[in-house]
Amino acid sequence: MRLFLDSANLSEIEHALELGMVDGLTTNPTLLAREGGDWEGRAREICRMVKGPVSLEVTSLKCGEMLEEARRLVTFGPNVVIKVPMTQDGLKAVPILQSRDIDTNVTLVFSPMQALLAARAGAAYVSPFVGRLDALAQNGMELVREIMTIFQNYNYPTQVIVASVRHPRHVSEAALLGAHAATIPYKIMMQLARHPLTDAGLETFLNDWAKLPPITRQA
Ligand code: E4P
Repeated sequence: MRLFLDSANLSEIEHALELGMVDGLTTNPTLLAREGGDWEGRAREICRMVKGPVSLEVTSLKCGEMLEEARRLVTFGPNVVIKVPMTQDGLKAVPILQSRDIDTNVTLVFSPMQALLAARAGAAYVSPFVGRLDALAQNGMELVREIMTIFQNYNYPTQVIVASVRHPRHVSEAALLGAHAATIPYKIMMQLARHPLTDAGLETFLNDWAKLPPITRQA
């Protein structure tokens, strides 16, 4: 499963890249606005730093304007994926962009039928938002399971990016369901490598090792 970073923060991106954890990246208007400043310069820099696909979201609501925005966004780098909201105009824009060899990521997907429509339209990716569904006492991972089954039933090549991830368990469940990718906030990505028993075990090993006389400790 590919791990995408869900961030527009350059220091977070740099650190996660150093750890070899980043196969791609997703942004959204909220993440870019949170960083402030020159969003376009930041987005261009992100496309340069990350080798895999980078999702940049259009903010227009009309198909024609989405296409115009996309035309500019793709100049930011060869790895740009255009994130399109799951709306009727978004659905119109997807096949047009794909026919221009521009990959799309249909975002804000909350039902299996929205995912099916996005796949039929030819989207390269769909992003079901699991955390936001869980917050409404619905089951986000159940949505992912249904989408995976539907895509497998009909051999849709559309890849599923599990989004709105809130904890490491969302990531492991995504992997168990065979999702193609999960897009993960920095803090949760860092949690993936950690376990309290790893820390405790390491501390014990090092304390025990320190009990050996210094000379015997040398290799
Ligand atoms: C995915 O592409 C989105 O940017 C992201 O996962 C949104 O999730 P949120 O619910 O944390 O805003």
